Amino acid sequence: MPRKVPFSHRSSWSSQPNELTTLVASQKATGAVPVDMTLSNPTRAGLPYPPGLLSSLASPASLSYEPEPLGLLSSREYLASWYRARGQHRSAERTVLTASSSESYSHLFHLLADPGDEVLIPAPSYPLLSFLADLAGVRLRAYPLHYAGAWFIDLEMLREMVNERTRAILVVSPNNPTGSYVKESEAAALQELAQEQGLALISDEVFAEYPLQGPPRGRSLAEYDGCLTFALGGLSKLVGLPQLKLGWIFVSGPDIQVTEALSRLEIIADTYLSVSTPVQQALPSLLEAAEEVGDAIRERTHRNLTTLRRALEGTTATVLDTEGGWYTVLHLPSTLTEMEWTLALLRNGVHVHPGHFFDFPREPFVVLSLLPEPKDFDEGLRRILQTLEEKISIF
Ligand SMILES: Cc1ncc(COP(=O)(O)O)c(C=O)c1O
Repeated sequence: MPRKVPFSHRSSWSSQPNELTTLVASQKATGAVPVDMTLSNPTRAGLPYPPGLLSSLASPASLSYEPEPLGLLSSREYLASWYRARGQHRSAERTVLTASSSESYSHLFHLLADPGDEVLIPAPSYPLLSFLADLAGVRLRAYPLHYAGAWFIDLEMLREMVNERTRAILVVSPNNPTGSYVKESEAAALQELAQEQGLALISDEVFAEYPLQGPPRGRSLAEYDGCLTFALGGLSKLVGLPQLKLGWIFVSGPDIQVTEALSRLEIIADTYLSVSTPVQQALPSLLEAAEEVGDAIRERTHRNLTTLRRALEGTTATVLDTEGGWYTVLHLPSTLTEMEWTLALLRNGVHVHPGHFFDFPREPFVVLSLLPEPKDFDEGLRRILQTLEEKISIF
């Protein structure tokens, strides 16, 4: 009998199936294909990527390997100038390339926190963060976002949550899945708090270029320089290319802190050197496609949100205010629990995420992607309406 292998506590995640994953698996086994309203992969959304988009990955320049931990200077220069051309101040020297936003988070958790230290994150928000924090030994504590016709940060609660183990405040703007941008007044308050308490700000701005109501709300947190700030972006959302694995961190704040952060990040990045040379060399031509692909995604998300709002008008479901990003949230009647709604919808052939997946404090909410192709989105919507009718007419 071999001796038991001692796996780490940090990797002891539960893999127990729940009612939803069980139903998804059993439907799959019978060949039933629900409409996937959880779609987050842009490459599965039937978007018109420009022909030849990836040809720059085969540039002969990529045959030469010049390991630069923060990323090739020429690529960082191009990236910073791309942002400057859009009126946003960025510099190549304060830019770090990573293999994804997930890797950006991981680097920042290692840079800022020791095991047991805390990072304050919004709730509801994106569930990947808990795994990244477990791997880094960092404790996440959720500060609430409240909804009153629009989402806002509970700044008072956030302030009370800061203690001697707090290292950073994290914001997602616009947030996944609430679609809320950090408002100018919130950004100023966060900065003041971070400055006063000696904390860093991490601002995930991967969906910044996807406003759903007019131009993007508020400035990037990279534009403020009162406290050490890390603003995250990447090709995954900006050009709809998650498979190319390229993200970035813009570092801003007081010079002395920025210099220290960059020299430490350089060692963290040097430990992995995970960003491939071809994607760095191709960055300029990939960014040239950002407008075209971005426009196709914006047209899609606007169209689907407008259709959804119209279709649900006067029904028992409410579409919450959504300022940006690729997702939206429905508030459903409390005649069923969130899980009951999600299962009923799946039985009627439409897959959505239950709100608790994103840490909603109350029920019942479901989260829908705005990325699906119109014919799929409309069919999913038809099935949602059918489920609402069935479940509500019972009462
Ligand atoms: C808010 C947010 N940040 C980051 C990511 C991950 O981006 P990447 O593919 O660059 O790791 C996602 C993915 O859905 C996301 O929703």
